[in-house]
Order: sequence, then C-alpha cells, then structure tokens
Amino acid sequence: MQNILVTGGAGYIGSHTVVELHNAGYNPIIVDNLSNSRKSVLTGLKNITSKDFTFYKVDCNDKETFRQVFKDHQISGVIHFAAYKAVGESVAKPLEYYENNVGSLMTLIRLMKEEGVEKLIFSSSCTVYGQPDQLPVTEQSPKKTAESPYGNTKQVCEEIIEDTSVSDKSFRAIALRYFNPVGAHPSSEIGELPLGVPNNLVPFITQTATGWREQLTVFGDNYDTKDGSCVRDYIHVVDLAKAHVKSLEYLTQHSDLSFDIFNIGTGHGNTVLEIVNTFEEVSGTKLNYKIGDRRSGDIEKIYADVTKSTKVLGWKTEKSLRDSLQDSWNWQLTLKKEV
Ligand code: NAD
Ligand code: WQD
Repeated sequence: MQNILVTGGAGYIGSHTVVELHNAGYNPIIVDNLSNSRKSVLTGLKNITSKDFTFYKVDCNDKETFRQVFKDHQISGVIHFAAYKAVGESVAKPLEYYENNVGSLMTLIRLMKEEGVEKLIFSSSCTVYGQPDQLPVTEQSPKKTAESPYGNTKQVCEEIIEDTSVSDKSFRAIALRYFNPVGAHPSSEIGELPLGVPNNLVPFITQTATGWREQLTVFGDNYDTKDGSCVRDYIHVVDLAKAHVKSLEYLTQHSDLSFDIFNIGTGHGNTVLEIVNTFEEVSGTKLNYKIGDRRSGDIEKIYADVTKSTKVLGWKTEKSLRDSLQDSWNWQLTLKKEV
C-alpha cells in the first residue's frame, strides 16, 4: 500500500482527502501542527473509515522534526494543504503568511529532494485569477496582481514549484486551483471548523441559521450579475477531495509530466442570493439576512472552466449545490449538539 503524506491533513479539505485516499487504497499519513484544526478530527476519520491513521503533530517549517516522517515511512507522494488561509488576516500579518505558506512549501520541497520523493500535489486557489476578463476562467487565463498577501503566497508557491520542476526532472508536481469549497462529509463526522467569526459565506449562513450569529449581511446587491449579488463556483468538498486522488494517479501514470495546473470547480456560478435561497429550501429554515455594502476587494464574478480537469484527469463533480448545502447544514447541526 502506498504511503501518501498529507500535510494539513487535519484541516477541512485535508481531512476529506484523507478519506478519499483511504477509499482509493492508499495509506495517508497526516502531518499537521493543529494551528487551525483539532485532534478530534482523527476520531471523525476513524468513525468513517474504521482506521487509525498515522498522525504527526509537526510544523512543516520545523525541517528536522518533519524529516523524521520521511525516515519513518517510505513516502510515494505528498499532498500539501498546510497553510494559513484567511485573506483579511494576511493583510494584517503578511510576514506570518509568507513564512508559513511559502516557508513550509520550501522546507517540504527540500525534504522531498533530499529524501527522494518525486510527486507533489499542491493546494492553489482561484484567487490567482483576481477578477477575470473572460468567464469561465481557464488555466490559461492571465494571473492578476494578488489582492492580498495570502493570494500572493499562492502565486509565489506555484512559481517555486514550477521553477523547481524545470530544474530537477525528479521533482514533479500538479497545482490544483480550487474554487469555493463548501459542504461536509455526508456522515457529518468531519467538516469545516472555522475558529471565531467565519469569513466564508456558507459557514456564516449555517451559524446564523442555528442562532450563533444574529444576521448574515449579503455584501452588495448592485453588481453586474443576474440578481446583483456576487457570483462564485461552489464545489462540494468531497468532489474536491476526489480530484486529489485523480491528480495523484495522473502524476503516477505520466512519468514524463513535470508540472501542470488544473482548475477544480463545478463549472457553474451561483450568486450569494441563490445560495441563501437554496439553503433556506434544503434546511427548511428562514435565514435572517440583510443587504449591506460591498466588501472591499471582492471579485464580482468568477467560475471555472473545467474542460481540462474533466478531459485530462478524468474527474468531474458528482454532487449538486443542494447536496453541498444540505451536508453543510447537517454538519452544523452536529456541531450545535456538541456545544
Ligand atoms: P484549514 O485551515 O482547514 O487546513 C489547513 C491545515 O493546515 C490546518 O489543519 C492547519 O492546522 C494546518 N497547518 C497550517 N500551517 C501548518 C504548518 N506550518 N505545519 C503543519 N500544519 C499546518 O484550510 P483548508 O480550507 O482545508 O485549506 C487547505 C488548503 O487549501 C490551504 O492551502 C488553503 O490555502 C487552500 N485553499 C483553501 C480554500 C478554501 O476556501 N478553504 C480555497 C482555495 C485554496
Ligand atoms: C463568497 C461570496 C462574498 C460572507 C475567499 C478567498 C479566496 C478563496 C475562497 C482560498 C462573496 C459573499 C461572504 C458574508 C457575503 N480561499 N459573502 N456575506 O470571497 O470567494 O473567496 O475564499 O484560497 O482566496 O478570498 O469566498 O466565502 O468569503 O465569499 O455576502 O458574510 O459570499 O461577498 O461574494 P470568496 P467567501
């Protein structure tokens, strides 16, 4: 059984990917410093898979402690989720973001080269496109100047990976540009665990529906979209997790591939108000919301062209927006019970 190192594997997307790797016959090994996750995620993973996964509480910037993971296991490939991801916080703490996001990637790549590990899947983001000139965005769409230090770390990381793959034929990688991950595992054993007030739309909606937050503010209804609110491509986290397994298989089967990039989204855009309405329908609740001002730095509309990932990786989404919002809601209800 191949060992796949999953950095940030206790986090939101990482934990769902651990499940899909397991389902596909891999042995995921989790490395996480728990800076934005809880060890209880391992219990959820065990409840889903009946397996105790190997877990290291290690910071990916701590090179020598991190090296021990490579010494303890023969690693076939790495999926690198570990990073900070709060856009607003990155504006206030740029050095922390560059150090953690860029620093951990560089430490990881050095270790991979030193320990002879060839394959990397990297978590990138549609944030690299900024506000695209044409929709849907393809992987060839130009990258725009990043709106935040967080966004810039994703651009810089992609460049570091590409440059390294050019310089060293035994280092091969795929960067996945995620659109907006939502939803949770249908078992409600794992899901997103936002610490403090959520920045993202769907956790804010579910927390408002349970009464943890008083009211959702829809940031603007005067954009050039069908109902005036912003458009995004919301993808179920289980579909996103499966894209990592497909990417790993593709990288394994194509030993001549040095570096490639794929959009991972549904290919469809939905407005904020459509998300609110669909949430009300699937949850049977009435959401307390108001229309507020635009949020500074927001993109008006973006959604993915997924032709490349569909054709090349043989991957496509299987879940609907209703599935996503239903699973987010079920997960929120589980959290409510724990409080
Ligand atoms: P998350 O915060 O839930 O997961 C990240 C995990 O990495 C956390 O468990 C955290 O404790 C861990 N971590 C952070 N720094 C670490 C370090 N130095 N060493 C070890 N562990 C560390 O976030 P997520 O939503 O699962 O995102 C995963 C990746 O996907 C990130 O790279 C993020 O930038 C990227 N991404 C996320 C989104 C999104 O909307 N969630 C969109 C696009 C890209
Ligand atoms: C979605 C829509 C808001 C909250 C961010 C990062 C991006 C990527 C994904 C990592 C927008 C609206 C939100 C609220 C609202 N992450 N909204 N009221 O802005 O697409 O992207 O997460 O790479 O880098 O910037 O996601 O969930 O914050 O917002 O009306 O209380 O919901 O204006 O249109 P976004 P989001």
